[in-house]
Amino acid sequence: MPDILVSSRSFGQVSAIGQEILEGAGLSVRRVSSEDRPLDAEKLERIVGKAKPDVLLAGAEPVPRAVLAAAPKLRMVQKHGVGVDNIDLGAATELGIAVGNAPGTNNRAVADLTIGFMLNLLRSIVPAAVSTKAGGWERFIGHELGEATVGVIGTGRIGREVIQRLKGFGSSILAYDAYPDASYADAQGFQYVSLEELLSVSDVITLHVPLMDETRNLIGRSELERMKPSAVLVNIARGELIDEAALAEWLSGRRIAGAAIDVFATEPPQASPLLKLENVIATPHIGAYTHEAMDAMSRSCAETILGVLSGGRPANVLNPEVLSRGDRT
Ligand SMILES: NC(=O)c1ccc[n+]([C@@H]2O[C@H](COP(=O)([O-])OP(=O)(O)OC[C@H]3O[C@@H](n4cnc5c(N)ncnc54)[C@H](O)[C@@H]3O)[C@@H](O)[C@H]2O)c1
Repeated sequence: MPDILVSSRSFGQVSAIGQEILEGAGLSVRRVSSEDRPLDAEKLERIVGKAKPDVLLAGAEPVPRAVLAAAPKLRMVQKHGVGVDNIDLGAATELGIAVGNAPGTNNRAVADLTIGFMLNLLRSIVPAAVSTKAGGWERFIGHELGEATVGVIGTGRIGREVIQRLKGFGSSILAYDAYPDASYADAQGFQYVSLEELLSVSDVITLHVPLMDETRNLIGRSELERMKPSAVLVNIARGELIDEAALAEWLSGRRIAGAAIDVFATEPPQASPLLKLENVIATPHIGAYTHEAMDAMSRSCAETILGVLSGGRPANVLNPEVLSRGDRT
């Protein structure tokens, strides 16, 4: 009976669907013990080496080559999430281990929170609520999202959900993507521009690209320099996309107006200078945390695992070449 080791903290925590599907198919599902958390690569390597699972159902913890190599029977790593920047995909492919993710399961949840962040930044909802509860009665003057030019960086699944919502508000939309889709832009009535133009023109800037070598520090000092002092920035994608120290400097000097950050280079971000700033809204990586998204993600993970174990080729396996090689599968 194939054995699944769950190192993801969130799988099974909010939604039981995935675990029910896996156990209903006769698989054994074990979880990393809570005493072993927080997980780092060395700890996970030791746990995986001892448990020898067929499948690792991973969360945000690092899954480098050493972890993959420590499990002799490992056929698959399934990410309970979308971004797989914590998994060494190249090493997995070399070792014949399939890597799956759960795309499309949390687009709406992430897009909803993105819009919530934009409205919060433009209307100072969080500071106004804190001030009122503390006995204040200060009138916070804001801006309307429908009057704003919004720059969307990354027009994949989540970026498109954000664009769809922005159209409802009537915002002017600009976008930047390494692989622009001109027919989609025409159909939606927005324009692709260079990153430089997007940064210098937008009132609201939002990031929806994956973390890769090409996107690490996509927003650094020279990009911050281009932004308007009135601009606000939303990062609900990955912390490492932005030079956090530079962002903190720009925000504390009011060289940009504000930021909403759901993701940090180090999580939890105890030492991040961003946490101390008044013009920052910080949340604990909750972009995907809705009941609806958790149900969909949990189900998708279970179905992808069952698909691979039964010899299929699920569309969300990111290195399908290992499925045809059949070294471990
Ligand atoms: N905060 C959260 O809880 C949360 C939840 C889900 C996803 N995310 C993050 O959001 C990211 C985007 O998710 P998605 O489902 O929309 O991904 P996606 O793959 O559907 O879209 C990514 C887009 O980025 C573009 N892109 C790739 N490389 C680029 C580059 N170098 N420069 C500019 N554009 C580039 C792609 O062409 C694509 O359009 C994920 O990779 C993940 O890191 C965060």
